[in-house]
Amino acid sequence: MTTDSVRWGILATGGIAAAFTADLIDLPEAEVVAVASRTETSANAFAERFGIPRAYGDWEALAQDEDIDVVYVATPHSAHRTATALCLKAGRNVLCEKPFTLNLREAEELVALARDNGRFLMEAMWMYCNPLIRRLKALVDDGAIGDVRTVQADFGLEGPFPPSHRLRDPAQGGGALLDLGVYPVSFAQLLLGEPSGISAQSVLSAEGVDLQTALALSWDSGALAALHCSLVGGTGVSASVTGSRGRIDIPSGFFHPDRLVLHRAGRDPEEFAADPADGPRTTFRHEAREVMRAIRAGETESPLVPLDGTLAVMRTLDAVRERIGVRYPGEAA
Ligand SMILES: NC(=O)c1ccc[n+]([C@@H]2O[C@H](COP(=O)([O-])OP(=O)(O)OC[C@H]3O[C@@H](n4cnc5c(N)ncnc54)[C@H](OP(=O)(O)O)[C@@H]3O)[C@@H](O)[C@H]2O)c1
Repeated sequence: MTTDSVRWGILATGGIAAAFTADLIDLPEAEVVAVASRTETSANAFAERFGIPRAYGDWEALAQDEDIDVVYVATPHSAHRTATALCLKAGRNVLCEKPFTLNLREAEELVALARDNGRFLMEAMWMYCNPLIRRLKALVDDGAIGDVRTVQADFGLEGPFPPSHRLRDPAQGGGALLDLGVYPVSFAQLLLGEPSGISAQSVLSAEGVDLQTALALSWDSGALAALHCSLVGGTGVSASVTGSRGRIDIPSGFFHPDRLVLHRAGRDPEEFAADPADGPRTTFRHEAREVMRAIRAGETESPLVPLDGTLAVMRTLDAVRERIGVRYPGEAA
C-alpha cells in the first residue's frame, strides 16, 4: 500500500457490485480506483455512475493494475474461482462474494493460492462482521444462554424467479442452497463449528437446482440445527439460538439484524438494538472496514471471517448437495 486510503478495484458490475460500491464511496478511508467488466460498455457506465477513474473491459487488466490494494469479486458464484484466482496470481488481495465458490475443491484451491502467495483473501460473509451478530456470538460464548442445544434459521425469497434468472441457472451455480442457504449454515457454524451429521430434503426445479431445501445438522455435543432456504416462498428470515439456560431470538433479517432479544430463565427479556451510528441494517461498511483494517495491519485473513471457517461451510454445502442430488456443469459425477 502506498497511500493512506485503501484502493479498491471492483470486478463485475451487477446488483451487489453497485450496492457495495455505493457503501464504499461513503467511507473516507476507501478509494474506488478501478472497475472491470466483461464489456467495456458496462465498465464505462459503472465508472461514470460512481466516479471511478479507471474502467477495464476485461478482468486481466484489473488484476494487473498494481495501484489497487484489494479487489472485490462480485460475479455470479460460477465465476468466483476464475476471477479470484486471476487476481491472487497477479498479486492482488481479494474480497470474494458468498458463496465463496461452487464447491469445496474450488475453495481449497483459492485458499492455497492466497496462502502460498501471502495475499489477503476473505469470503464476503458480511453477516460475520455485523455488530449485532458479533454481540450475539459474544453473549453465547460468555455463557448467557448456557450450552447451545438448538439453532433455527431460515432465508426464503418469494420470487418468482424465471428459469432464465441466475438463481435458477445451473451454469451460474443457481439454487436456494448456495445463494441463500449459505447464511443459515454459516450462522449455525459460527456458533457450533462444523457439524458431524448432515441430512437434507429438497424440491428441485426442472433445470436441476434446488427451489427449497430443509437441512438438519447435528453436533457431537448433542446440539442440532434446523435450517431452511427457499426461492419459492418469502419466509420470516428469522433465527433463534436455544441453550440450556435461555434463548436469543432474531425476529427478522437474521443475517443483518436490527435487534436481538435475549430470554434468560427467570428474567424479563432483554433487547439489544443496533446502534443508529452503525448505519442502515443493509450496509456493507462493517465488512469493508474489516477488510481495510486487516490489510492495513498486514494480515492475510480476517479473524472475523477465517478461511478455515469458509472451507468448513463449503464442506457442509457439498455434503448437502450430494444428498439432494444437485450437481453443477463440469463437476465430476
Ligand atoms: N452479500 C450480499 O448481500 C449479496 C447480495 C446479492 C448477491 N450476492 C452475491 O454476489 C454475486 C453476484 O450477485 P448479483 O446479485 O450482483 O448478480 P447480478 O446482478 O447478476 O450481477 C453479476 C455480474 O457478474 C457479471 N456476470 C454475469 N454473468 C456472468 C458470467 N456468466 N460469468 C462471469 N460474470 C458474469 C456481470 O457483470 P459484467 O457484465 O460487468 O461482467 C453481472 O452484472 C453472487 O455470487 C451472489 O451470491 C451477495
